[in-house]
Amino acid sequence: MPLDIIIGTQWGDEGKGRIVDLLAAKADFVARYSGGDNAGHTVTVGDQTYKLHLIPSGIVHEHTTGIMGNGMVINPATLLDEMSRLRAGGVQITPKRLRISYAAHLISPAHRALDAAQEKARGREQIGTTLRGIGPAYTGKVARYGIRLGQMLDQESFADAVKVQVESINQQLTHLYDAEPLDPQQVAAEYADYARQLAPYVGDVSLVLSEALRRNKQVLAEGAQGTLLDLDHGTYPFVTSSSPTAPSALLGLGIGFGHIGRVIGVTKAFQTRVGGGPFPTEVEGDLALRLRGTGENPWDEYGTTTGRPRRVGWLDSVLLRYAIRINGLSELAVTKLDVLTGLHPLKVCVGYRVNGQEYRELPLGPSDLSQFEPVYEELPGWDGDVTHIRSFNDLPLEACDYIVRLEELAGIPITTVSVGPERSQVIHID
Ligand code: GDP
Ligand code: IMO
Ligand code: MG
Repeated sequence: MPLDIIIGTQWGDEGKGRIVDLLAAKADFVARYSGGDNAGHTVTVGDQTYKLHLIPSGIVHEHTTGIMGNGMVINPATLLDEMSRLRAGGVQITPKRLRISYAAHLISPAHRALDAAQEKARGREQIGTTLRGIGPAYTGKVARYGIRLGQMLDQESFADAVKVQVESINQQLTHLYDAEPLDPQQVAAEYADYARQLAPYVGDVSLVLSEALRRNKQVLAEGAQGTLLDLDHGTYPFVTSSSPTAPSALLGLGIGFGHIGRVIGVTKAFQTRVGGGPFPTEVEGDLALRLRGTGENPWDEYGTTTGRPRRVGWLDSVLLRYAIRINGLSELAVTKLDVLTGLHPLKVCVGYRVNGQEYRELPLGPSDLSQFEPVYEELPGWDGDVTHIRSFNDLPLEACDYIVRLEELAGIPITTVSVGPERSQVIHID
């Protein structure tokens, strides 16, 4: 089947961009279907590193067409900036190579200001959002006063709509949050200019993709965020405002049923999270420093979008199995195995204990994990660099055992193991 879907199984930053880059080698179209510039996907090719926030990571391959679906919320300022940075890095961005859905929703500076004001008002209950205006933009969509990118095709009415939206959000900013209002005229003028630049990219991506699928072209749907950040299935309310899970790939691109091939889950060999919310296997102290890194390496655990240090912990196989179920994953790609080198012993959460009772599945999903105590299984670690290894059987025995045990716990095949950020640092398992 010509549609493969890549999904984060954790709280985002699993290395989806890195895995998309591998699969995009054989794809014709690479499509983002949810989220906005809260995402930060990293692709490293040789000594060049690309950081993508809105444009699908597969665009780095010359032969692909990038698609930004109706399920996305798009800040045109960040998008234009990303286009310039990619062009500077040698990636061609033209209206032929990148198509944006007319039904994607717009993020304006007013949404960003509202995101910041709402976070401030939450006090100690902060979600720890990326402050990119994601929540307010999706709220506007659901409440049916959002602006869709199709409106950019008529610059005048678009600028008017932006002005009216900023005026309306100003009411909330000043009356509810005691925050500074924005200048609607200035924002409208700025956005009219963005509309002029982006209009040639806007079209009906559903039509493009259905035509491509009919001709048996290969489409790769690139998930953003992760299963545990899903509005319905994540650690609510510490989630994002969209649905990053697999079914949204159809909804967020305007594709019908019947095309889905592989649904590939990406998991780190350990667990990370940025922002607030429960994280049962979180560790602190020296071990956390070891898993997170100091920030010296580009792959150390600091947010690709916000630069915030990520919280780190042991892999949680209960949550992994949950992600496999929610998304109907067919296989797994494990990233960052190299980071576990030198840690003894390794731990994996295989269940939870509450009030003396043990659970292998979460009774009420992951929303309230706060009282759950993880039950760990210990596995022997390994020493010695694995970043140069390209064949499963060449890995240290303990590293093989770690992967085999994960596969047993997951119940689906692990087909890819990443041992470094660079494109070639990968082990394919038949
Ligand atoms: P995404 O949001 O899921 O695309 O992930 P991010 O790009 O935000 O974060 C993943 C980070 O891990 C990036 O810095 C990648 O370059 C890096 N990375 C991916 N795979 C590996 C790996 O196997 N080993 C190491 N050391 N780094 C990796
Ligand atoms: P990628 O695609 C990690 C998190 C934020 C916060 C919560 C809500 O790079 O994996 P939002 O700004 O979306 O309203 O924030 O979701 N979050 C991410 N964490 N990776 C991401 O994307 C994320 N996108 C949102 O940190 O906890
Ligand atoms: Mg990321």
